[in-house]
Amino acid sequence: MSEQDLVERLLSWFAHHKRDLPWRREPRDPYRVWLAEVMLQQTQVATVIPYYERWLARFPTLEALAAAPLDEVLKLWEGLGYYARARHLHAAARAIVNKYGGRIPQTLPALLALPGIGRYTAGAVASLAFNADAPVLDGNVKRVLSRVYGLRAPKDAALWRLAQALLPPGRAGAFNEALMDLGSLVCLPRAPRCALCPLRERCAAFASGDPEAFPSRATKRTPPHHRVLTALIVDPDGCVLLGQRPIGGLLGGLWEFISSDLRADCVVDGQGTDQLKQMIMARAGLAVEHAEVKWLGEVKHAFTHFRITRYAWQVALPARRATEAAPNAYVALRWVMPAEVTNLALTRSDRKLWQIYQALSLPKGATTSL
Ligand code: ADE
Repeated sequence: MSEQDLVERLLSWFAHHKRDLPWRREPRDPYRVWLAEVMLQQTQVATVIPYYERWLARFPTLEALAAAPLDEVLKLWEGLGYYARARHLHAAARAIVNKYGGRIPQTLPALLALPGIGRYTAGAVASLAFNADAPVLDGNVKRVLSRVYGLRAPKDAALWRLAQALLPPGRAGAFNEALMDLGSLVCLPRAPRCALCPLRERCAAFASGDPEAFPSRATKRTPPHHRVLTALIVDPDGCVLLGQRPIGGLLGGLWEFISSDLRADCVVDGQGTDQLKQMIMARAGLAVEHAEVKWLGEVKHAFTHFRITRYAWQVALPARRATEAAPNAYVALRWVMPAEVTNLALTRSDRKLWQIYQALSLPKGATTSL
């Protein structure tokens, strides 16, 4: 089977089996294509769809996104992870309004110059929204190409060249989506469904009898574990103190209860009052005296490259006192009414802590109603 036959087979399989996804509706709106591609990075289609719909209900156009405050953008992204994606989308929307009058540029170099747009996203937007002859390479495409060509440990540069060489001129959009769909419906990482594959006869990995072995999986190291001490500080009116994380860092711009990483040699014994006091002073410049301290619980959360456990205490102050954010800790501190906590973009583990706190602070004998 020639390369041309391979491409034709793939495209005719795609014509029958393509997924009907919201961002694929014709005519394609470049803003929607771009948004979907950013949301789909590291995130499953089923997770993305409700976020995508909510986002477009609030920001139907690129202009609407550019005009919105960052806080609101982050709030809509809450729970999707990799928050730099949302900050970059927002910054890029503003750049497109300022520089291109609100029209997304069509060429790869202009797309690549925008915040948060790398080679994958530029190729996806150029090919899917503008039908430019640009390749894409994501996890699915890498797997399909590695298997067809029997590559166990291919370098990305080689796969980009292969993806480029196979592109049928004028049909790059369909070809790229066909590779994505084959990778997610048929050429699965485990137990690939080779019986359904249009490329089976041409596939070196299938011929080997062990398609799963292509590409070989990197051995997974146990991700490092961080422990985080957290104080949910409450004033007599029930307002809670939140800090906004530095914009450029991990979970940048999101709000959290006052927290700090624990040193490796610290023991967490459920009696951590001194540690807690020092931490609150160091991070929020707040002197905690005569406070009522209550253990709230532990919350675990896994990121891609590490795991965290939050150890959380409720700290009820007898009176609200002055605060001062440590420059390396928070860009802002805010006392927030309980009803308002829902409106701020919190990290996922802070959202869980907030739920624990609310459940524990219900009056005795109270029941929740559904
Ligand atoms: N994953 C990344 N981009 C995608 C797309 N456009 N459709 C389906 N899955 C995807």
